[in-house]
Amino acid sequence: DASDIEKGTYQHYMLKEIEEQPLVIRKVIQQYQEENGQLVIDPSIVEALNEADRLYIVAAGTSYHAGLIGKQFIETMAKIPTEVHLASEFGYNMPLLSEKPLFIFISQSGETADSRAVLVQVKKLGYKALTLTNVPGSTLSREADYTLLLHAGPEIAVASTKAYTAQLAVLAILAEVTAKGRNVDAEIDIAHELAIVANAMEELCDGKDEFEQIARDYLTVSRNSFFIGRSLDYAVCLEAALKLKEISYIQAEGFAGGELKHGPIALIEDGTPVFALATQENVNLNLRGNVKEVAARGANTCIISMKGLEMNGDRFVLPEVHEILTPLISVLPMQYISYYAALHRGCDVDKPRNLAKSVTVE
Ligand code: G6P
Repeated sequence: DASDIEKGTYQHYMLKEIEEQPLVIRKVIQQYQEENGQLVIDPSIVEALNEADRLYIVAAGTSYHAGLIGKQFIETMAKIPTEVHLASEFGYNMPLLSEKPLFIFISQSGETADSRAVLVQVKKLGYKALTLTNVPGSTLSREADYTLLLHAGPEIAVASTKAYTAQLAVLAILAEVTAKGRNVDAEIDIAHELAIVANAMEELCDGKDEFEQIARDYLTVSRNSFFIGRSLDYAVCLEAALKLKEISYIQAEGFAGGELKHGPIALIEDGTPVFALATQENVNLNLRGNVKEVAARGANTCIISMKGLEMNGDRFVLPEVHEILTPLISVLPMQYISYYAALHRGCDVDKPRNLAKSVTVE
């Protein structure tokens, strides 16, 4: 049928979409780059960010996880205070807003009802909103003042992959261009660094057999699993856990390394799979300490580290990219591991039970 043709030789849309990521990142760079190599964003958007005293990112699911990392990009590069909120919680837990807020909605589909409800609410209050979406003309795009497109191409698999990395790329570009607009030195050449990211992604896709093996080694019999990380890696761990639970139905939780001792470590038993992400130099030693703590309690640990930070016994070492952009590549092994774990269990990878691609009810 027609959908099979679109899938080409791939067994699933999810696999196809994972492997499109290097191309998507190159497309995003190209879409936001001028002939002279400068990144550019509609000046009215840059002005809106620069006029704001605080940014409020609102999103759901995977897009919310992209928002957590986007906050770090914006605060590090453009130095604008940024909060991230779950759309479904925002309505009745509305934070005290700053004097000049700007709202940023992140949504692959542009149709998520929870996010739409917040947009209606903030427009009523007279505030401006920017939407980052993959779908031109979607509701969140039409109803916001500004739109930035993700250029990821149609995402069919329910579990989001390429839209997430496209969101991160666009957020990084937004952060750098906004920094320039306010004469802040972002201290990073995003176009150049994203090109390195695209190459690193390609390398990871070429080596996917290793991730299939990791899925076999760690997730064949387990009922549950943990993902631990600190700083940016923590946000990626939340996304990794979401991916795995969505499609394989293995209970999966992402934890901040430092929080283990405050509760989650009670769950560790002999053989519990614990995936640890180690891409951030300033937290590497502390994270390694957490790995030792869970290993001492019998966990089956799988450490994925960044080149330069690797230690003996790490299961996989990621190719090096700029430290702040590591979430764009550290998520790929996690996407693959989830994919293969689901595949090996005979799950319907592209259409997991109980889930919808776009949730248009609150
Ligand atoms: C659904 C999808 C998720 C997605 C979330 C937010 O739950 O299954 O993959 O992350 O909606 O969707 P959005 O289109 O707003 O990014």
